[in-house]
Amino acid sequence: MSSAALSVGSLAAGYGGVLALKDVSLTAAPATITVVLGANGAGKTTLLRTVSGLVRPRAGRVLVDDTDLTGRPPEDVARAGVAHVPEGHGVIAELTVEENLRLGAMSWRRDGRNTGRAARAAAVAAACDRFPNLGRRRHKPAAVLSGGERQLLAIARALLARPRVLLLDEPSLGLAPRAVRQVMELISQLRAESGLTILLVEQNARGALAIADQGVVLSLGTVVATADAGTLAADVALRHHYLGY
Ligand SMILES: Nc1ncnc2c1ncn2[C@@H]1O[C@H](COP(=O)(O)OP(=O)(O)OP(=O)(O)O)[C@@H](O)[C@H]1O
Ligand SMILES: [Mg+2]
Repeated sequence: MSSAALSVGSLAAGYGGVLALKDVSLTAAPATITVVLGANGAGKTTLLRTVSGLVRPRAGRVLVDDTDLTGRPPEDVARAGVAHVPEGHGVIAELTVEENLRLGAMSWRRDGRNTGRAARAAAVAAACDRFPNLGRRRHKPAAVLSGGERQLLAIARALLARPRVLLLDEPSLGLAPRAVRQVMELISQLRAESGLTILLVEQNARGALAIADQGVVLSLGTVVATADAGTLAADVALRHHYLGY
């Protein structure tokens, strides 16, 4: 799978009178993990929603490689290879595990590969093999899964769209420590195995910086720091001021 660069330039976006993103720029190199950190209300979710076309930008640019996705509707952004796992994961509890996975395969990218029914079924089966806890319960409603398993299901579903860029909004939120480690490990593997370019929003700054290449800190809709993950983790003043540890 080819890797892509994601670049966001001077992005502004908001809701009515609220300007949630003021002037946000970042570049995520191909096959890297960029963690977006910041306090509640900093604009992290709005950044992901604007990249994926759910919120219309008021200014600025969103590019995947050389493709300009600024202001394009979510289905165009998805087709360009960007998958978004929203805050609260977006798994549909009433559908079975397999039905949730099939939803992911419905929107997969047109990349010249076979997109027929049999190919999609094979991709769902492969996801069930990769995640045995999901595979074992593929015919059960997603409601029976634990929080950690639902998060894995949400990520597995996003992967079925065969993305090049993966947007993850607080995948560790509300999970037990063991599940948090499992999710972080998976994210790290995805970058290494599939060359995915990952934009990871996290409140768990310490855990996310440990697996990330780069960190971007947002405060009140602006970028207050961008550096490689190790440098941010070592910056005691910045950690105390913006990251709460
Ligand atoms: N649908 C909405 N309508 C109006 N204002 C909103 C909406 N969603 C977010 N906001 C506001 O936009 C700002 C940024 O919110 P956003 O959800 O992007 O922050 P966040 O960094 O993801 O926060 P959290 O850590 O709590 O998830 C906040 O001031 C928030 O109140
Ligand atoms: Mg948020």
